[in-house]
Amino acid sequence: MEPYAEVEESYRRFAAEAADSPTFAAWAAAVAEDPEVVTWIRALPEVKQQPNLVFAAARHHGVPAPGPYDGLRAALLGDTGALRATILARSTQTNEVGRLATLVPAFASFDGPLALLEVGSSAGLCLYPDRWGYRWTTDTGEVVLGDDPLLPCRVRGPAPLPTALPEVAWRGGIDLNPLDVTDPDDMAWLETLVWPEQDERRARLVRAIEVARPDPPDVVRGDLVAELPAMVERASSYGTVVVFHSAVIAYLPPARRREFDALVRDLVGSGKCHWVSNEGKRVLPSVTASGPPIPDEHPTFVLGIDGRMVAQTHGHGRTLRWTA
Ligand SMILES: C[S@@+](CC[C@H](N)C(=O)[O-])C[C@H]1O[C@@H](n2cnc3c(N)ncnc32)[C@H](O)[C@@H]1O
Repeated sequence: MEPYAEVEESYRRFAAEAADSPTFAAWAAAVAEDPEVVTWIRALPEVKQQPNLVFAAARHHGVPAPGPYDGLRAALLGDTGALRATILARSTQTNEVGRLATLVPAFASFDGPLALLEVGSSAGLCLYPDRWGYRWTTDTGEVVLGDDPLLPCRVRGPAPLPTALPEVAWRGGIDLNPLDVTDPDDMAWLETLVWPEQDERRARLVRAIEVARPDPPDVVRGDLVAELPAMVERASSYGTVVVFHSAVIAYLPPARRREFDALVRDLVGSGKCHWVSNEGKRVLPSVTASGPPIPDEHPTFVLGIDGRMVAQTHGHGRTLRWTA
């Protein structure tokens, strides 16, 4: 392979897949054809070369988006170190409360009050399912729960949609790098992670920060496998412990994923907690294998309760297809 082919190829692939953001699609396509910028990106550690991270850091440093590729190019090639430092210090930790519309029907299967423990919680914005409303659109009509702001979700299949919001007695989390809802710079970073044209998601994020800021969650810094038993113990004095996660386990190497799977099954088996998982279909094979087969070409998240698949979900919570 030519020296810089991997970077060019990954940006080309990103351009093809970033249909939700014409700006990022155009930037990525232009990077792939720009040897000087490719060289700049290639000088970053490999895990830091991803388009999402590089583009977010550029926006964090004032590059307008939507905006022309020239803005990105000038910022990268003219960088005196600050932009590179942001790339090295930060990571992509998108915190998407839209996912709650698919998680809440799973939470409703447990008796409350709940002690919610989110592993890979980022800023912990998904720990407030009781502070949002929901609008589930089914084949027969709309089911609305709670008040504005309503999180919308298209539902198929016999989903047990709850008639009451969950009662939450405690909210805690574990993250390698927790973002602090009371820290303006951390929250500005979260905002830049939302793609430029996604104004609705950005507005929801701003609202989610307002919801969490007055009552921040109890999030510890650390690895989710190492910290889980102690945090389950800590949560247990507050209510029914529900360990949950979405878009997190893919960050772990395969052996560590298996360790997490075994550990949490053990905790569930000994009655210490329940488990709600919401991950890409290949991430926790034991959960995915417990449900109906999913065609190879169909990208989906899999929602599990206590290790058994109950639904297919959209990665940002837009759809829920109940299969159990
Ligand atoms: C894409 S974010 C998802 C945030 C949140 N779960 C949501 O659905 O919005 C993934 C988070 O997992 C965290 N993470 C990745 N590996 C981890 C690990 N081994 N232990 C703890 N947290 C981890 C990252 O720091 C990041 O904040």
